[in-house]
Amino acid sequence: MTESIVDRRDFGGHFYEIDTERDRLDFAVIHDFLANCSHWARGISPKKLHRAIEHSLNFGLYCDNAQVGFARVVTDEATFAYLTDVFVVAAERNNGLGQWLVETIMAHPRLQQLRRWLLVTRDAKTLYQRCGFAEPHPGLTYLELFVPAP
Ligand SMILES: CC(C)(COP(=O)(O)OP(=O)(O)OC[C@H]1O[C@@H](n2cnc3c(N)ncnc32)[C@H](O)[C@@H]1OP(=O)(O)O)[C@@H](O)C(=O)NCCC(=O)NCCS
Repeated sequence: MTESIVDRRDFGGHFYEIDTERDRLDFAVIHDFLANCSHWARGISPKKLHRAIEHSLNFGLYCDNAQVGFARVVTDEATFAYLTDVFVVAAERNNGLGQWLVETIMAHPRLQQLRRWLLVTRDAKTLYQRCGFAEPHPGLTYLELFVPAP
């Protein structure tokens, strides 16, 4: 198993892998989902997505070598990680792949003993709660500067 492949499993007669190799990513699939199907990155340009991927720790999810999911982590690899652009293509959902992807990301050796993980989600809260995410601590105020169409 090459170093970048972080986990593999057989499921339903298919072979799934999670791989951090940037050169293996099927950019067209990822851009198509984020630009056309996501609610948070709709319309993102290929140039902007390329730059985001270039500066992230990326996790490709593959079924029989075809890209079926993706997530990326923006991190200093010491104290903080922001998990974003998480998706599984519609045909592969509700089989536990999303949870497997998030759990595998959080177990990655480069992402251990961080003080804080962050993510923003509209409707997949249950999935992340199962992986240990919770509402901000009551004593904390989270602030953001959100720019809808930068
Ligand atoms: C969110 C997503 C990645 C989950 O992938 P998945 O492979 O279907 O996830 P799993 O099969 O591991 O599901 C884990 C659990 O989370 C729940 N869940 C998953 N997506 C959910 C959603 N959008 N809303 C509510 N619950 C959701 C599932 O019902 C499942 O619970 P169950 O075991 O009780 O049925 C996938 O639905 C997706 O790509 N959605 C569109 C993109 C998106 O919304 N990404 C999140 C942005 S932060």
